[in-house]
Amino acid sequence: MAPVCRRTNKEMHRFSRLTSREIISVKSCVQSLGRRTQIENVLKVLKTRSGSLVDIGSGDGRIVIAAAKSGFKAVGFELNPWLVWYSRYKAWREGVHHNSSFYISDLWKVSFSEYSNVVIFGVPQMMEQLEVKLQTELQSSAKVVACRFPFPTWTPDDVAGEGIDTVWVYNAKTFKPPIRNDKDTERQELMTN
Ligand SMILES: C[S@@+](CC[C@H](N)C(=O)[O-])C[C@H]1O[C@@H](n2cnc3c(N)ncnc32)[C@H](O)[C@@H]1O
Repeated sequence: MAPVCRRTNKEMHRFSRLTSREIISVKSCVQSLGRRTQIENVLKVLKTRSGSLVDIGSGDGRIVIAAAKSGFKAVGFELNPWLVWYSRYKAWREGVHHNSSFYISDLWKVSFSEYSNVVIFGVPQMMEQLEVKLQTELQSSAKVVACRFPFPTWTPDDVAGEGIDTVWVYNAKTFKPPIRNDKDTERQELMTN
């Protein structure tokens, strides 16, 4: 059996030993996130894109799994280990474990530089700090999709959906400061002297 399946079996065993209180807590988180329209909006705005996708704070894995089904190589980073084990189990059950990975990680300790599509459904208080992090790390070909809460200073390229299912799309080209090479700096210095 492939190593991924062995890992999933071990996680399923761990998942099956949750206490009833832990099951209720995971279930309520999963139910509160189970909004199809929001996922549809995310996939709609990324329909011309391909390659790697990361969901920052992946919750129960619904976005990563839907993205993997749409052909992305999808990855989720999530602080809550129960949600990560649940996501891995769900990805295995839905047959997308080869196209998806989930890590128990703090988003502030991970670099997102390798991802060309980034999805975030965070809380408003974190968005300003996340702008700075993504602006530094992402390549200019990347796209960022913010669910429910937009980024405070970036200008979106596109908006889809309405109400709590709204998603905002940002093109990294528009928020990355232009790369200046040595020739530009020299020219600038000559002009000012
Ligand atoms: C609103 S939920 C969104 C879940 C998922 N992206 C979705 O749309 O279904 C936010 C998730 O971020 C996770 N989270 C919060 N702080 C985090 C951190 N510092 N590092 C990683 N995940 C975090 C929470 O545990 C929660 O599952």
